[in-house]
Amino acid sequence: MACFRSLAKQSINRNFTINRRWKATLPALPYDYAALEPTISGEIMELHHTKHHQAYVNNLNEALVRLDEAKERNDFKTIISLGPIIRFNGGGHINHSIFWQVLSPNGGEPHGELRDAIEETYGSLENMKARLSKLAISVQGSGWAWLGMCPISGKIRSVACSNQDPLESTYGLVPLFGIDVWEHAYYLQYKNVRADYVQAIWNVVNWSDVERRYMSVKPTL
Ligand SMILES: [Fe+2]
Repeated sequence: MACFRSLAKQSINRNFTINRRWKATLPALPYDYAALEPTISGEIMELHHTKHHQAYVNNLNEALVRLDEAKERNDFKTIISLGPIIRFNGGGHINHSIFWQVLSPNGGEPHGELRDAIEETYGSLENMKARLSKLAISVQGSGWAWLGMCPISGKIRSVACSNQDPLESTYGLVPLFGIDVWEHAYYLQYKNVRADYVQAIWNVVNWSDVERRYMSVKPTL
């Protein structure tokens, strides 16, 4: 079941305030392209960041300009037709901006309240990894597997999203950690064996950032 609260407000996203002058920009990676090797090759990271994420940014900005122009001339047909384009490319921009941050060459394990919440929900950290991995491997075609938090109950949940559907505007969950299972994220290195990529990605999770996300939205009941 989705976890919605003031979805209209959430879907604009805390970090992406959209107005007429707003333009998406490609965020810099917090590490070198080769920093996640051997888990993810530098070639994949560079292509993923400079080609794929950049394309979402470019297409989103172009669509937003077209949206402004359509609004100026009250062109409702065009306004409506731009919705899916903005959702896809805006979702791609949001998802990848999170993805770069929740990976790190340092790896490690979650601690504190996040660790407690994971163990309360899944029984153990390993159970959570197994659940999210299974979701990621099972995505048909392209998409993401997410660990998210319901901002109302504070409960952690794991769900899969198709294509670039943003977790927050699809399920009302705040993203904590996501696995990109589009082929562009792993195919050059792992070929058709998505399961090996998903298993390996646990070596490079930036748990400090995941914890920061969890604590920043955890309800104080
Ligand atoms: Fe991607």
